[in-house]
Amino acid sequence: TKPLRIALAGLGTVGGGVVRLLDANGELIARRAGRAIEVVAVSARDRGKDRGFDLSRFAWIDDPAELVRHPDIDVVVELVGGSDGPALALARATLGAGKSLVTANKAMIAHHGLELARAAEAAQVALKFEAAVAGGVPVIKGLREGAAANVIGSVYGILNGTCNFILSKMEAEGRDFADILSEAQALGYAEADPSFDIDGVDAAHKLSILASIAFGAQPAFGDVAATGIRHVMAADIAEAAALGYRVRLLGVADAGPHGLFQRVHPHLVPLSHPLAHVVGSTNAVVAEGNFVGRLLFQGAGAGDGPTASAVVADLIDIARGEFGPPYAMPADALADQPAADTGER
Ligand code: NDP
Ligand code: HSE
Repeated sequence: TKPLRIALAGLGTVGGGVVRLLDANGELIARRAGRAIEVVAVSARDRGKDRGFDLSRFAWIDDPAELVRHPDIDVVVELVGGSDGPALALARATLGAGKSLVTANKAMIAHHGLELARAAEAAQVALKFEAAVAGGVPVIKGLREGAAANVIGSVYGILNGTCNFILSKMEAEGRDFADILSEAQALGYAEADPSFDIDGVDAAHKLSILASIAFGAQPAFGDVAATGIRHVMAADIAEAAALGYRVRLLGVADAGPHGLFQRVHPHLVPLSHPLAHVVGSTNAVVAEGNFVGRLLFQGAGAGDGPTASAVVADLIDIARGEFGPPYAMPADALADQPAADTGER
């Protein structure tokens, strides 16, 4: 059987993780996927950077958007980042050329998911983005496939590993957030612009994707009210602890009679709730289904290994010819979004 041939845009934390994972587990993956998965061509900014692996075995292409022109590729993996710019140009070119796209880019899916889903459906190719929400945790597959028989009433959880890492360390060590942020950056958890993490924007991107899947609506990032953890002090966390609470940045989406209500902000979570015990860069997503009850998806939400694991899981699906359901549901239903809830509650 022919290998699945990959063009990889971005060789940073996640892209490097994908190369290392395929190198380490390639044989096992080939057995499970039914064929080998091979990186053929790559693109990043700096060709000379030492990335800890041999680049000479791949074709190097300076402009990521040109990767799709490589004659020998089946799938493009976009790991550059950014809602627009080179990532979006590559995504459009890929689907426009009738190739499947795998991405970890929640900013792009939150802003352009419906357009990309329609392009993928028109071309009858896959658009997969498991790594975009909760890193290595298979929450998108869990909701789209595992919980497919349910009406979901609400979906909420810890969606940003950087903030949870910072809040956990502030709690354990009594430090304020600025110096802990640099640790999160060194571990590869933070976004290129870490204010996206700290100000709740990244969690809002993910929440809008999760809500679109859970409720069959188009991703509506603009409707998410977001506040981050910039103003949370170590003293606030200590005071909450004294009262039996932990401070967690939560994204919450529920579909009620007034429509879809989405918000991200620091919450006081009682110690009796499982989300109070989620520490470090771990993410946890709760979904309430009308027949299954409460589902809890939990695991590593950021970093090279976990995120690469989700990217390669998407590639394995494509190698098997399992494209999964279209993004949430057929594009017409996706567009049929409940009105945003502007009411007080
Ligand atoms: P990095 O900043 O580590 O890597 C980005 C890569 O893209 C680098 O290789 C960089 O090149 C390349 N790049 C950036 N701009 C350009 C450009 N204009 N042209 C060509 N190449 C470019 O980011 P991450 O790996 O952390 O993140 C990648 C994506 O994955 C983002 O969408 C992010 O939100 C998402 N993600 C990240 C997670 C994480 O834990 N880090 C988890 C889940 C999703 P060079 O190396 O030469 O500078
Ligand atoms: N910056 C993101 C986080 C990466 O900290 O959760 C994973 O999406």
